[in-house]
Parts: sequence; C-alpha cells; structure tokens
Amino acid sequence: MGTLAAPPGGAPAGVQVIEPARRLRGQLDVPGDKSISHRALMLALLASGESRIHGAGDGADVRSTAGIVRAFGASAERVDDDGRTVGYRVVSPGVDGIREPSGVLDCGNSGTSLRLFAGILAGLPMTAVLDGDASLRRRPVARIIEPLRAMGATLRALDGDTLPPVTVTGHDRLRPIDWTSPVPSAQVKSAILFAGLRATGMTRVRESVATRDHSERMLRARGVSVRSLPDGEGGAVIEIEGGTTVQAMEERIPGDPSAAAFWLVAAAIHPDAELVIRNVGVNPTRRAVIDLLARMGARIEERPAAGHAPRGADVGEPVADLVVGTSELEAIDVSPAEVAAAIDEIPILCLAASQARGRSTIRGAGELRHKESDRLTGIIAGLSALGAKLEVDGDDIVVHGPTPLLGAPADSLDDHRLAMTFAVAGLVASGRTTVGRPSSAAISYPGFFTDLERIRA
Ligand code: S3P
Repeated sequence: MGTLAAPPGGAPAGVQVIEPARRLRGQLDVPGDKSISHRALMLALLASGESRIHGAGDGADVRSTAGIVRAFGASAERVDDDGRTVGYRVVSPGVDGIREPSGVLDCGNSGTSLRLFAGILAGLPMTAVLDGDASLRRRPVARIIEPLRAMGATLRALDGDTLPPVTVTGHDRLRPIDWTSPVPSAQVKSAILFAGLRATGMTRVRESVATRDHSERMLRARGVSVRSLPDGEGGAVIEIEGGTTVQAMEERIPGDPSAAAFWLVAAAIHPDAELVIRNVGVNPTRRAVIDLLARMGARIEERPAAGHAPRGADVGEPVADLVVGTSELEAIDVSPAEVAAAIDEIPILCLAASQARGRSTIRGAGELRHKESDRLTGIIAGLSALGAKLEVDGDDIVVHGPTPLLGAPADSLDDHRLAMTFAVAGLVASGRTTVGRPSSAAISYPGFFTDLERIRA
C-alpha cells in the first residue's frame, strides 16, 4: 500500500493503493461513535459548567462540531488523545450565557453539525450562519427549516430555502409543535428535540420508522424529560418537555458501529479471516447492519465487552465485542425500513451482497442520493469498476452475486463511506485496487488505512 501524492498544483487528489490480503487477523478498536460524539459536544455547550467526554471520535466531522462549540464561547479542550479516540473537557456558560458567534459557523462536511446546530440556534436569541464544504452545500435543509420555522424561529437558505448556507435567527421561547417528518431522519428529529428544549410546552416528533435514539438517551441522562412511545409498525412518537435545564455530565462514548461495519464485512467476505472488534455500540437503533449481515449468514458473535473498561455503559448505550470470521453469505432482501435503520451502512452492505449467493435487493434507498455524495451513483460506479454486478432500479439497488472482484481504480467521490467500502473490496480483489480521493476516510475514521494494513496477517 502507498499513497501517491497529487501532482503539484494539480486538481486530482492522491489515491490509496490496496493490495489483496492473504489473511485477515487481529483486534480492532474503532473510533468513538460519530453521532454520539457530536451530541455530547453540543449538549455540553447547552449545559452550564464542566462536561467530560471520553472516547469521542476524532474525525473531521466531530472536530467541526468542537470548533462551533468554541465559536459560541465555550471552551472545548482536547485531552487524552490516543490518535483514534479523543477526550474533551468542555466548560460552558450554559444555554443562557452562549454568545453570538462573530463569524460563519463552518460545519465542514458534516450534515449532523449543520442540522443539529440549526435546532440549537432556533432556541437562542441571536443570528448565526451555518455553512460547510461543497458537498454540504448540496445537501437538503428544507427538512429542518420547515419545523423550526413552525416553532417560531426565522431561517433562510439558498435556492428557495433548500440549500446551505442557512441563516438562523432564534428565540428563547419557541412554540411547541407536533411534527411528522416526511423522511425518517435522526438529524431532523434531533434538531426539533434540541429546539424543543426552549419551547413553552410539549414538543412531539412522529417518525414512521424509528431512527437512532442517541439524542433521546443523552437528553434523559442529562435530566431532561423525554418520552419515546412505539407508534404503528416500527414507528415512534418522541415527546420532549420544554424549559428543562440540560445538566453537565461525564460520558464515555462507545465504538462506532458504522465504522465496525467495514471490518464485519471485510472478515465475512474474505476466505481466511477472523477479527475481533472491541467495544462496539450495539444500540437497537444502530445495530441493523449486524442483524442484516447475520441474516445473510455472517458468522458474528457478540461477547460482553470484557477485559477493558466498557465504553458507553454510563449513558445506557449497550456495547459488545464483536467476533467475525469468514462466512458463506446468501442474498438478502432489505426493506425500506431496514434501509433507514442501516442508512450509513448501505455502501458496505452492497459490497457484502456482491459476494453473496443470489440476487439481493435493497429497497427504498433514495435517501442515499442526499448523503455526503450521491451514494447511489457512487456505489454503483465504484463497485461496478471493481467487477461487481449491481444496478439501480428507481430507488432500489439490485445486486447479483457472487462476483469475483478484480482490483481497479474506484473513486470515493470524496465520500468517506465510499472510500472505506472500496478499500475493503480491495482486500478481497484479485488485483490491485486504487481508491481515489481516500483522505475522505478521515471524516469519520482517521486511522482507517493504518488499521487496514495492521490486520493483514
Ligand atoms: C445521523 C443521522 C443519519 C446519518 C448520519 C448521522 C445522526 O442521517 O446518515 O450519518 O447523527 O443523526 P439522517 O438522519 O439525515 O438520515
């Protein structure tokens, strides 16, 4: 493996060369959960006093959130950096002492930062602008503008209020709403819940598919009254009582299941593999990828996170060590609700399906067009270049397997999850794979390529 640097002054970024691996063995500690890390920093900003965060993800997205916390006048000091997870000590004046940022708030590549901070800003008596990189500027924001406006905040965005940058002028007394989101989205739900903290009464969010519930768990752990009730088949109603104070706390963040998913698939599709991934969050609203792979026949064993301090236990986030080995995979039919539950793992699941026996369908995956890249196009282009047989049919992905992978250039489109998917494909390909624009992996997993080289036996 090696990184070929971009030619001087040239537009093309480097590529990462991945040689096939004869065997995969080893133990891995994945980065702290990205979704939880963002929320821990944001809630530390809203709480008065000192919050301690252990085991946060150290990717560029979480750093964007930490930068914004500082721009609001809190300190967010990075501590205990082991290169893969990082600690933060946040000291904040609390929600009523937050100062108006003097510049544009740079969310970088992070949709979670932009959408959740919009919810926080809706409840603050100030004006601020949220912006980001070229990819973020293509991602939809009407889905948060509409509910936050209904609560009484003023929001403007480009292109008819559909695209960032977003300007928010908030109020500290918002109207509670009862909102049904047309897209199942934890980011939309969380933006509304964070605004709901400043509403005069009970705010409700109704979801047709229950999405990741970290905000609810973390608000509860910080003394806020939040209730979640099942609603219909697989749906949920979440209620938050406005006017309560977010308490500062100390929190340990579990390993990111979305990062672990790359190693689960790497081991499952490799002919000679056995990997242990330690301290992975297995929250029921995040573990869909584990269950889908198990349904395909992946040999995944969950063991209690033993022999080291479990991460995540203190806020009620379940964790486990995952042991995974070479497996015989069968095709799968993934429903739209399952797509929502495994939204970030669809690229790596497509790779798994390309090595499974039969025709897999992943139905209702249209939301992937609005991620860090148009992931529907990116998955098809990259995996097809590597020799997989898959196509898009409307909003569905159809994958025919198993197909031998050849090793070829595959472009990540500057999307971290595509870069890591194509790199894992390179481990089982017969020839050399070159992943285009690989540095995007550092958005969520800065040590990814180092870990990938380490597990070659
Ligand atoms: C996230 C929610 C998901 C996910 C994203 C992180 C979160 O987005 O794709 O990577 O932290 O709430 P949506 O809720 O918009 O689907």
